[in-house]
Amino acid sequence: MASTILTRLENNIFTITINRPDKMNALNGEVIADLQNAMQEVYSNDEIKGVILTGSGVKAFVAGADIAEFANYKSAQGKLMASNGHAVFNRIENCGKPVIAAVNGFALGGGCELAMSCHIRIASENAKFGQPEVNLGIIPGYGGTQRLIQYIGKGKALELMMTTDMISANEALTMGLVNHVVSQENLMAKCHEILNKIFTKGPGAISKVIECVNAHFEPQHGAFQTEINSFADCMNTTDFKEGTTAFVEKRKANFTGK
Ligand code: COA
Repeated sequence: MASTILTRLENNIFTITINRPDKMNALNGEVIADLQNAMQEVYSNDEIKGVILTGSGVKAFVAGADIAEFANYKSAQGKLMASNGHAVFNRIENCGKPVIAAVNGFALGGGCELAMSCHIRIASENAKFGQPEVNLGIIPGYGGTQRLIQYIGKGKALELMMTTDMISANEALTMGLVNHVVSQENLMAKCHEILNKIFTKGPGAISKVIECVNAHFEPQHGAFQTEINSFADCMNTTDFKEGTTAFVEKRKANFTGK
């Protein structure tokens, strides 16, 4: 398997680790493609009964899409980028086998969105969640504008996306964004415990549960397209240029509304 992710199949559990620790496991185009291939393996390999998705190292799950990579994009590239992300996140969400996010640190932007596309989220105590895209003059583009509402409701979702406030693992637990918070040492064990419990049930029934719960949110697919278009539109603004340049230059952005 490619180098931006590590995979391991043991006792019917397929563990996918995003492996760019020096870049806080940020999602570049290569990671998205590698994740798509890994999900292909999950769908086609009968030995795989469940999946754990995590980040390499102890600091970050995923700190978002790779800002350096998309900083010079215009809307056509932005649309492709968002569409590719949506395709793989939808594949995760609609997988008939249980997928658990082991959130081992920062889950920001695309990282929070990746965790939200999984069926269950277990966070370590040091994990932090947020959707900081508007700091860059863009919006969440991997399903966040829709899935965050599903987990925490419209009011809190709007607040987090507009203020970019980061929340702790325990706040995420209280809001319903994560299922459990455990120590970092116990994170993988907790994920294994939940998967092994699910494995004792009828696999066909499990996949039907996933399908039926997802069916509740089907009307969102029009809204996903609105998100992709809006994300791409943002990339033609001066504020997007300013926001991403400020991040790269490690300074505060000065937005003008242009
Ligand atoms: N894209 C690209 N590179 C990223 C990144 C991202 N989303 N998040 C972190 N990195 C890189 C940093 O640029 C830095 O690289 P460098 O060592 O070459 O300078 C490295 O990862 C370490 O990050 P750093 O910012 O030095 O760590 P920190 O502990 O001070 O802060 C974060 C951690 C996660 C709070 C901070 O990196 C951050 O705010 N990241 C961006 C989050 C974001 O806006 N995500 C949404 C993107 S759409």
